[in-house]
Amino acid sequence: MSEIAQLKIGDKTYDLPVIEGTEHEKAIDISKLRDQSGYITLDIGYKNTGATKSAITFLDGEQGILKYRGYPIEQLAEKSSFIEVAYLLIYGELPTEQQLKDFQYQISRHTLVHEDMKKFFDGFPSKSHPMGQLSSLIGALAAFNPESLEPGLSPEIINLEIIKLIAKMSTIVSWIYKKSLGQKVNYPQNKYDYVTNFLYMTFSQVTEEYEIDPVVVSAMNKLLILHADHEQNCSASTVRIVGSSDANIYASISAGISALWGPLHGGANQAVIEMLEKIKADGGDTDKWIAKAKDKNDSFRLMGFGHRVYKNFDPRAKIIKKACDDILEKLGVNDEVLSIAKRLEEVALQDEYFVQRKLYPNVDFYSGIIYRALGFPTDMFTVLFALGRLPGWIAQWKEMKENKEPIGRPRQVYVGATNRDYTDINNR
Ligand code: SDX
Repeated sequence: MSEIAQLKIGDKTYDLPVIEGTEHEKAIDISKLRDQSGYITLDIGYKNTGATKSAITFLDGEQGILKYRGYPIEQLAEKSSFIEVAYLLIYGELPTEQQLKDFQYQISRHTLVHEDMKKFFDGFPSKSHPMGQLSSLIGALAAFNPESLEPGLSPEIINLEIIKLIAKMSTIVSWIYKKSLGQKVNYPQNKYDYVTNFLYMTFSQVTEEYEIDPVVVSAMNKLLILHADHEQNCSASTVRIVGSSDANIYASISAGISALWGPLHGGANQAVIEMLEKIKADGGDTDKWIAKAKDKNDSFRLMGFGHRVYKNFDPRAKIIKKACDDILEKLGVNDEVLSIAKRLEEVALQDEYFVQRKLYPNVDFYSGIIYRALGFPTDMFTVLFALGRLPGWIAQWKEMKENKEPIGRPRQVYVGATNRDYTDINNR
């Protein structure tokens, strides 16, 4: 007998079904609440509201657990590759050797971007924010792939657009970087795997062949894996709700990129480095900045700290923090802000303000330090987050489509002016 929740309003009692997920999370199904009682619920910021049932990613904020399709993030970060994790997230199972080969082959055949895309890519000011460029360019792919606009897409067409998106996003991200340097863009090389190809397109110079460093390739795979999905976060929810109107996949992903841009979400990795640089320039007094973060009259927040769901360590932050030491040592990089970051973490984790609010370092706290060591400029960090999150967004969009979910349209509680008549402008 499944559990029932009872809601008592006045002299009436309403029975609401309880559903339980495979990891034993429980939810009260209120889909019939308004029909039964005339009441809706209110949950600003959706802190207590499930938007869907999903089989893609499971996270437990209290335990600091993160799994993609049931596989612990620690194992995938250690043993898998980004393109294999992309396959897992999108299709639900780890690929066989042949499936992985076919997936990589199909992607490598779609990494070229239509030359006409360059016509408006060239129009962006070279220092315009990379996230604005990326969101525009990904949305523009719909214009070059009109088959993606057909209603009731066949699974074959959907899969073709998925392959094109993954393939072309890496090329476009490298274009944006090269443009910021005023350098010629590179073309993809089919002899390279996905991540190596991305690094080649990003860092290769016309003056000298890019030397592939296995340490950098491995670090990049790990970072992209750690960013690949995170259940119903702000940008994934954006992708799902835009896709629920039957907007094409390029428009849906472009909307997700815009949501990720915000410094409270994906933009935090850029904001963390800018914050650490500011603290360093200010003499490295971490106590002073911790005090500012705690001061309600001060708008300063410790960027890279806190999380809507994790009320324990973000498991990704733990993995990245460990990788930080390894990679910087292997690359022979001594980044002063790393010691400031570690000091901030140490002090914050003993401070009552942070402990009481369960504010721990999140995925963004250390990732920027590695990106910088790999040679990326700060304003490219969130674009790299988007490149990593792409398979997750695609998996969420695909699941929403396959589940034939209705168009997303939340309700509201109206608190504005009640009925009043129009008054002529001379009488106002
Ligand atoms: C990502 O959702 C996801 O899964 C996102 C993500 C993903 O993979 O998709 O994990 C990626 O977005 C990570 C988060 C990156 N953002 C930042 O690092 C920005 C700094 N952190 C915050 O602004 C904040 O913690 C949020 C936005 C992440 C979460 O905000 P919530 O859940 O709405 O919590 P809140 O803002 O209500 O904070 C609760 C309390 C408040 O104090 P009180 O009002 O209770 O006194 O904690 C305080 C906040 O003022 N607080 C902070 C703080 N974060 C929260 N105080 C100082 N510094 C901070 N960083």
